[in-house]
Amino acid sequence: MKKRVFSGVQPSGDLHIGNYLGAIVNWVRSQEEHDNVFCIVDLHAITVPQDPKILKHRTLENAKMYLAAGIDPKKSTLFVQSDRPEHSELAWILNCFTYFGEMKRMTQFKDKTGIQLGRNFTLPDTSDRLISNYDNKQLIAIIREIEAEWKNSDTWRIQNKRKEESISVGLFDYPVLMAADILLYDTDEVPVGDDQKQHVEITRDIAQRINNKFGKVFTVPEPVIKKEGARIMSLTDPTKKMAKSDQNENSYVLLRDDADTIYKKFAKAQTDSENVIKFNKEKKPGISNLLNIMSVATETKIPELEKKYANSNYGQFKADVAECVIEMLKPIQAKLAKYDKDEDYVRKVLKDGAEAVAPRAQETLKRVKKAVGLGL
Ligand code: TRP
Repeated sequence: MKKRVFSGVQPSGDLHIGNYLGAIVNWVRSQEEHDNVFCIVDLHAITVPQDPKILKHRTLENAKMYLAAGIDPKKSTLFVQSDRPEHSELAWILNCFTYFGEMKRMTQFKDKTGIQLGRNFTLPDTSDRLISNYDNKQLIAIIREIEAEWKNSDTWRIQNKRKEESISVGLFDYPVLMAADILLYDTDEVPVGDDQKQHVEITRDIAQRINNKFGKVFTVPEPVIKKEGARIMSLTDPTKKMAKSDQNENSYVLLRDDADTIYKKFAKAQTDSENVIKFNKEKKPGISNLLNIMSVATETKIPELEKKYANSNYGQFKADVAECVIEMLKPIQAKLAKYDKDEDYVRKVLKDGAEAVAPRAQETLKRVKKAVGLGL
């Protein structure tokens, strides 16, 4: 039996080469060995405000991107989360077996909202009060004092109240919907980045809790943390991951960027003043990132590239990296152009995908409802 692997992807608009080289390439390569299920998670997207037209556009756009990148609907399943009602239904049931206490410890919710439920909260700027040479213990005492003062202030109360009032319960509940996604398909493995590991762990906890209570209902999934090698960093600040949310457009290369744009972005990429093309993540993060990009784009080992560019300058090297990326994107962009002309094909792939996974989702849901005692 092939391992069932479930991946959820946010329809968050344009994908960049960091998404492609960091995740999609591995999915494409693993299509033969695994039973892959790819789900565009639009129900997760609406946990934060969305424009309906843009959300629809992005959902279709993401599907085009995955297909263009090599996800083959004959080997893998690609579908849209909201096309399968079982996700929301299972999420509700799981909600009733999830504790408020464990949910409020989820770090992504805290990072996204800045809301600190419970004992933790954000400190005000205390720099003017912490300048002198207190020892550690004294500092901790002072911070406590400031925290207490701050937490008692009207400003804190007002700020937190406002935040809480404009954040959806859905965002708080996000990990439970994710657990439903994973558990519906008897998933064995979930490939995730570090930031999502906690969500897979809570999925395991919920599954085990229900299994302990009612007998074996769910397959307990394993998180598989993505390999370091394909961690593509921002071009303008190579100490940060490449991210679409970055304000600076030159920090990422989109899968739809044209050749001219790609040359320009790489020409502006941050490097150092040494003019030596060697991999050293700490001392030369910019050059190391470019070497890494070229290495994964061309499937060439980094030492080989270092040898090849031993006598080159940064200008030439950057132009070559750009060229490799342009070459890598060529077939993807050709397919995107094809899908742009035939969106009905993409829609059909998604509909067929949702239908293909239906029996499995329905079977799991039936099992859960029976175990819990829902319906007659
Ligand atoms: N939360 C994931 C992210 O933001 C997306 C996601 C939703 C997901 N459901 C999932 C990932 C199930 C893996 C499995 O990246």
